[in-house]
Amino acid sequence: MVNEYAPLKGIKVVDWTQVQSGPSCTQILAWLGADVIKIEKPGTGDPTRNQLLDIEDSWGIYYLQLNANKKSLTLNAKTESGHKVLTELLKNADIFIENIKPGAVEKLGFGWEQVHALNPRLIMGTIKGFNKGSRFENVKAYEPVAQCSGGAASTTGWNEGEFNVPTQSAAALGDSNSGMHLCIGILAALMQREHTGEGTYVYQSMRNATLNLCRIKLRDQIMLDNLGALPHYSVYGKPGYKWGKAIPRTENTEGGQVIGWCYKAKGWETDPNAYVYIVIQDPKKSWESVCTAIEKPELIDDPRFDTWQHRQLHKEEMYAEIEDYTKNFDKYELTDKLGKAGVPVGPVIDWYEIENDPELNSDGTIVTINQGGNRGEYKTIGLPFTMANYTPDYKRAPDLGENNVEILEGLGFSDDDIKGMVEEGTISEARGPKNAKPEVQLNF
Ligand SMILES: CC(C)(COP(=O)(O)OP(=O)(O)OC[C@H]1O[C@@H](n2cnc3c(N)ncnc32)[C@H](O)[C@@H]1OP(=O)(O)O)[C@@H](O)C(=O)NCCC(=O)NCCS
Repeated sequence: MVNEYAPLKGIKVVDWTQVQSGPSCTQILAWLGADVIKIEKPGTGDPTRNQLLDIEDSWGIYYLQLNANKKSLTLNAKTESGHKVLTELLKNADIFIENIKPGAVEKLGFGWEQVHALNPRLIMGTIKGFNKGSRFENVKAYEPVAQCSGGAASTTGWNEGEFNVPTQSAAALGDSNSGMHLCIGILAALMQREHTGEGTYVYQSMRNATLNLCRIKLRDQIMLDNLGALPHYSVYGKPGYKWGKAIPRTENTEGGQVIGWCYKAKGWETDPNAYVYIVIQDPKKSWESVCTAIEKPELIDDPRFDTWQHRQLHKEEMYAEIEDYTKNFDKYELTDKLGKAGVPVGPVIDWYEIENDPELNSDGTIVTINQGGNRGEYKTIGLPFTMANYTPDYKRAPDLGENNVEILEGLGFSDDDIKGMVEEGTISEARGPKNAKPEVQLNF
């Protein structure tokens, strides 16, 4: 793999982000070769440094997975000297990203108008829970807030029984997804600056990032408005089900005019992930492929299943027929057999399997980074796309304030200035992790 030229080489990023949403954006920028300086609160740093600890004297894996290849500067932006340092940093930066409390950067003098006046070429990126002007604009947000307000939770889960509650997806639709959306805007702004010579302000709400990934639910809502029912939803045709104004939860159905369901595979009794997902496409030929693959050719012309509309109406019976076959083979055998027959099929893979998958561990999907210290090597999901002429050089995440001195000296501050900043609490001295291995109760 050629690694001659990092796409963002020479681009300077001031990264005032924390937790997941903002750091996931600046993580991509760092892996694309930008110089990323992360601003952290003196003494404590990003909250994820010390959250969910698993190893003695080691930063939390959460922090490491989002802050590799960055530099760390502890900085209290509320003091006079802290304000001065951040001002100097921004004067020389290309990109400024923040996701602190709504209203906080403006209060501290680093809102868009303020930084634009300071450095007209600077591009600023913000992540907040909600849009500017929203009635929720000043509400603080974490992942579930975005999933609930962004149309994901109301449509995820089951429609009957005790589990008929709005449910979160495991995918970070509000967090990393917002970071990826912001990253698109930032890269677009960089290109735009080539033409205008001026930076712009990119604002990404977590709610909008979630809505964008759930956009097909709006297709379903419009269909429901027009039809009063949705043939592709699992509740369709269920005796006693009453359609309301809003679309129901999706359960395990597929979103298009095809029938998808999750079927038990061999071992399902003891392994909660011994399942395969099979999609039956519309054309008759696709149904024929499924019937042939599951060795039930007699079902090809069965009037309950011969068209997609009939299959929708009799889906419970169809599921039973297919599962009668899938239960006899493990999920990998099924993927092989059905895949070869041209049927879209996927094994349900759990995270133990993902962590140890030789393919994912060798093709650059899961990368191993040496953090040193007690942590040693750890795994993370690397740059999720590949570039034909570039692969990131994956490096460790910084200790808290590890780069204080080099950054401050680079800005022209003297040793005495730096000592003064430590004394007044503007910066805290660099330090490594210090924690005991947490005790967990295994059987309670
Ligand atoms: C994540 C979030 C909920 C945390 O809120 P929080 O616990 O209040 O923490 P914050 O660090 O953002 O802000 C707390 C205070 O620290 C201050 N602060 C943050 N970094 C600082 C720094 N480097 N120097 C000085 N002050 C700092 C803020 O100005 C704020 O001060 P105030 O309470 O006097 O106004 C909130 O920042 C938020 O909603 N962010 C936007 C949405 C988002 O990205 N969420 C995270 C998803 S992973």
